[in-house]
Amino acid sequence: MFPKKISVIGAGAIGAMFGGLIKHHHPSTEVVLIARGKHLRVMQDRRAVELRGKWGHRLVPIIAASSPDAVVDSDVVIFTVKTQDTDQVAKQYAQAIGDAVVVSLQNGINQHLLTRHLHPDRVVAGMTSTNMALIEPGVVQCNRGGISVIGPTSKQVATTTVDLAHRTLAASGLPIEVSESILGIQYNKLLFNTMGYASVVSSTDLLRDGIMTRTWRNEVALPLLTEGLHVLQSAGILLERVSGMSDVYRFRNFLRALNLPTANTLASATLRGPLSLPGIVFSVYQDLMRRRPTEIDYVNGEMVRLAKESGTDAPRNSKIVQMTKSIESHDQPKFFSKEDVIAEFRQLQCD
Ligand SMILES: NC(=O)c1ccc[n+]([C@@H]2O[C@H](COP(=O)([O-])OP(=O)(O)OC[C@H]3O[C@@H](n4cnc5c(N)ncnc54)[C@H](OP(=O)(O)O)[C@@H]3O)[C@@H](O)[C@H]2O)c1
Repeated sequence: MFPKKISVIGAGAIGAMFGGLIKHHHPSTEVVLIARGKHLRVMQDRRAVELRGKWGHRLVPIIAASSPDAVVDSDVVIFTVKTQDTDQVAKQYAQAIGDAVVVSLQNGINQHLLTRHLHPDRVVAGMTSTNMALIEPGVVQCNRGGISVIGPTSKQVATTTVDLAHRTLAASGLPIEVSESILGIQYNKLLFNTMGYASVVSSTDLLRDGIMTRTWRNEVALPLLTEGLHVLQSAGILLERVSGMSDVYRFRNFLRALNLPTANTLASATLRGPLSLPGIVFSVYQDLMRRRPTEIDYVNGEMVRLAKESGTDAPRNSKIVQMTKSIESHDQPKFFSKEDVIAEFRQLQCD
């Protein structure tokens, strides 16, 4: 059976898009979007969220709210706050969530934060490779569709629980898969993000101005990915592949192959699709532009933490954390130049 009531806690870019799409395809289901500030007020005034994407503009009627009461009696809760808010918001909403199935679609590793407050046998972890943006209050835009994968956080989570989460998210019309190795999938995405966030510190388009340029590719992207893979290996974490999405090992080989004389043919064959799309707007970039705290401590910072825990180090990830925090500390985002980032990475090689 399809859920009668779905709540989205943290209905910003990702949450409002998934919640809105589910409501569009399943109008008889009650969808509650939990948000705050001006975004909340606009959705409440319109009693709707505006979804933009390849379908054009779509105004979808929803209920927008900001208190735990609105979540009570939900069958499924989609959890999409930023990782730094997970612990506090899960605690605040735990009672209202009750026995609902909770599916997290967040970057970083959030399951241990969620299960501190929620029933561990009801928590399903997720990874989404979609790219959404809150372009103005009440309006979210799908920049890129893409696959999302969910999976049980432990053996305690029943197959029926994962199935319900799967059916719910699949109702969005976006591709959703289930995996028994969700942690390896989350870390695979996290490693891509460590590289993406390195492009953000210089406000560089990851594909066009980042990996398509030899110096950035060889002196920033490749060393960062190699460092991340070493950290995961030291921590005994196995990466898992997702169909239709590259894994970091293959991607690293691809970056190396771009240095070969046949690179132009390779690049034009492989990257024709991605290069024809608008650039990825990383959520850490959106946060820097909106003067919000970023998730950097849970992405590049997660690699630094994991390195320490495993008796190794992650100086390149540490550098990206430091540079992001420096941008965060200014009244207006003051990005570094691409050359600054390359110079900082060269310096690390000398240290
Ligand atoms: N955007 C993407 O394309 C994308 C892609 C893949 C993964 N992700 C991941 O998905 C997660 C969500 O990202 P996002 O881009 O959707 O972030 P977002 O737009 O900032 O959405 C999170 C929302 O939660 C709200 N919120 C936080 N605490 C709240 C509270 N106590 N009560 C009510 N609302 C609260 C935030 O409000 P405020 O704005 O007022 O803080 C914001 O509207 C992150 O982990 C991100 O890394 C995002």
